[in-house]
Amino acid sequence: MEGKGVGVERESWGSQFGFIMAAAGSAIGLGNIWRFPYMAGENGGGAFILIYLGAVILIGFTVLLCEFAVGRGGQANAISSFRKLVPGSAWWIAGAFGVMAALLIMSFYIVVSGWTMAYTWLTLSGQLTGVAAYQLTDIFNEYAARPVAPIVWMGIFLALTVAITATGIKSGIERWNKILMPLVFIILIIFMIRGLTLEGSMVGVNFLLQPDFSQVTGTTVLLALGQAFFSLSLGMGIMITYGSYLKRKENMASSAATVAGLDTGVSIIAGLAIFPALFVVGLDPASGPGLVFMVLPAVFDSLPAGVLFGTLFFFLLAIAALTSAVSIFEVLVALIKEKLNLSRAFTATTVGIFIFFCGVTASLSWGPWSHITIPFPGLGDLRLFAFYDRLSALVMLPMAGLLTCLFVAWGWKFKNSIKEITNDGQLNFSWLPVFKIMVGFVAPIVIFLVLLNGLGILPAILAWFG
Ligand code: PHE
Repeated sequence: MEGKGVGVERESWGSQFGFIMAAAGSAIGLGNIWRFPYMAGENGGGAFILIYLGAVILIGFTVLLCEFAVGRGGQANAISSFRKLVPGSAWWIAGAFGVMAALLIMSFYIVVSGWTMAYTWLTLSGQLTGVAAYQLTDIFNEYAARPVAPIVWMGIFLALTVAITATGIKSGIERWNKILMPLVFIILIIFMIRGLTLEGSMVGVNFLLQPDFSQVTGTTVLLALGQAFFSLSLGMGIMITYGSYLKRKENMASSAATVAGLDTGVSIIAGLAIFPALFVVGLDPASGPGLVFMVLPAVFDSLPAGVLFGTLFFFLLAIAALTSAVSIFEVLVALIKEKLNLSRAFTATTVGIFIFFCGVTASLSWGPWSHITIPFPGLGDLRLFAFYDRLSALVMLPMAGLLTCLFVAWGWKFKNSIKEITNDGQLNFSWLPVFKIMVGFVAPIVIFLVLLNGLGILPAILAWFG
């Protein structure tokens, strides 16, 4: 039976194209289509984009390649890969942070994904047609607080995630990413053309691209780096797990560059699609992930063929989210199936049921359970949804990323990790000197600063120095 038992050959990707689509499918998600444009808009537009590009090229690409290498070298799940590469050491803790991040992120990500499906339906059935912009906030808040409907949509979304993951690497995950990712690209390009051909679109384009260095501070750099991390799906065990299904002959450095390039390209295209429309309609680019649901429906409604474009947009979000959810789910499935020696389908179903209940707690925290809060340093009392989000983004992801870099440089040791990356010296990796400096020093230091900043410690230290 597939995936069961020791000695059975490990599953692997069918082609490099399939692997790249799967990794890009993980990277491209809500982070690109909403979070990135907004962050760029609020943090100096083109200036933020330049800093972001630097963050992706220098640190994002580096950590991505490290994760691929750990996975392919270890040929196991996100925790065991570290163990196999350096037996008897405590480096597996790096993987454990990633797995904890995966569990937390999955718990709230499926809730947001459920909303995207609900809004696809609400738009298609005309329930958002003719609704004034100011009413959308109430509609969203009322909807998210409901006890049943969001959980039903979340369950449907999760069932799709489980079904794809349960079918296996090649015939499930790879196959669906090869279908869904090109669809995401095509729909996004349609939106970009639509946005750019609106009368007065240049205001939005300028807002996004004109570098305004007056708004750039140290925090901007840390925000850009955090965005790069989240957007490339780093520190969640994902790229380690996906890397573990790579065959020895594949060129990981060029795959990592392609994935980082696709992800960044999609972020910029999403900005060019959304901002012109926002400005033409006269709505302010407001903040936060919930605003996809509070602002964009009004934008579509005021444009020709609004129902069509609105439905298509939320459908786009839903499939982008699905390919990301599959990747984070696979982190948990791979771990448990290998640890307990269970079949893939059984593991996926059981873990799916468990995650469903985690998701329920996140969803209910918008309504019936809004009184349940957990204190978080610097951020006060957080509801469960926000707690899962902040704990993973501010602590688990940077910890996993930091330890992974240190592992590749000093734990597993450069001589071994570089052997893995260059396929035993067969590939020529001209970026190597830069890579070494980044992995060994720059990335750990910068990620450490992100960590301190996220915990509110950095601002305190800076304030102390006056
Ligand atoms: N990279 C994803 C994005 O940009 C983030 C993510 C991946 C979130 C996988 C959850 C699971 O949206």
